[in-house]
Amino acid sequence: MVSAEARPHRDVVSFVRRSARMNPSQQRAWRDHRDTYLVDILRDSMSTSVAPQVPLDWSAIFARTAPLIAEIGAGNGDSLVATAAAHPDMDIVGFEVFEPSIASTVGKLAAQGLTNARVVLADGVQGLRHLVQPASLDAVHAFFPDPWHKSRHHKRRLISPETCVLIADRLRPGGLFRVATDWEDYALAMRDVLDASPLTAMYDGWAPRFDERPMTKYEARGIAAGRAVYDLCYRR
Ligand SMILES: C[S@@+](CC[C@H](N)C(=O)[O-])C[C@H]1O[C@@H](n2cnc3c(N)ncnc32)[C@H](O)[C@@H]1O
Repeated sequence: MVSAEARPHRDVVSFVRRSARMNPSQQRAWRDHRDTYLVDILRDSMSTSVAPQVPLDWSAIFARTAPLIAEIGAGNGDSLVATAAAHPDMDIVGFEVFEPSIASTVGKLAAQGLTNARVVLADGVQGLRHLVQPASLDAVHAFFPDPWHKSRHHKRRLISPETCVLIADRLRPGGLFRVATDWEDYALAMRDVLDASPLTAMYDGWAPRFDERPMTKYEARGIAAGRAVYDLCYRR
């Protein structure tokens, strides 16, 4: 039996570990393109954790100095790929914990020949904490984060006071944090947390729909179920 001291410390995280079986197209994308797009990092005890380390030199990774965007929970990469394609003058890194989703993302990036995007297979909160310098990001995106409906699970929600302080610290002055959700109670909770954070709301009330955000299956599912979609946009 492992003693309490020897057991690795587990943060409360915003995801559950799922089985990581890839379909054939994801297997191909992973085999052919992971070396191009996946950033290697030092891990802690979990496969999705990030060890404390010297923040990565993103200019070296992209072989240029350009404004940098981070996306947390990039899913299958639809927003990440759209942002990279729309902004060849910017670089974007997506954090995602589900390996098959990362494989889909690298497949899409390769299909478009994009060179200004990378993916990290890890918890994006730990990624921002350990891999990104303070005041270095132009924007942080978190689209349709898992809603964690039950009250006893609210502590798992990505948008928490601690995460907002971290995001505010990693954004450069004037940098933007963009979030969207189709769950009203989470949207209201996010707004309360963000209003109390060091960030400043860009709009009175909800932000207009971020027009660069493509319709993903999560948004489409929410709309089909009759839910409204809420965008929030805050500035450091
Ligand atoms: C509901 S999905 C939304 C995906 C995508 N943003 C979209 O709109 O299609 C949430 C995603 O966030 C990922 N995720 C949850 N917490 C995360 C974290 N702390 N770091 C990285 N990815 C996370 C999940 O694995 C999942 O793919």
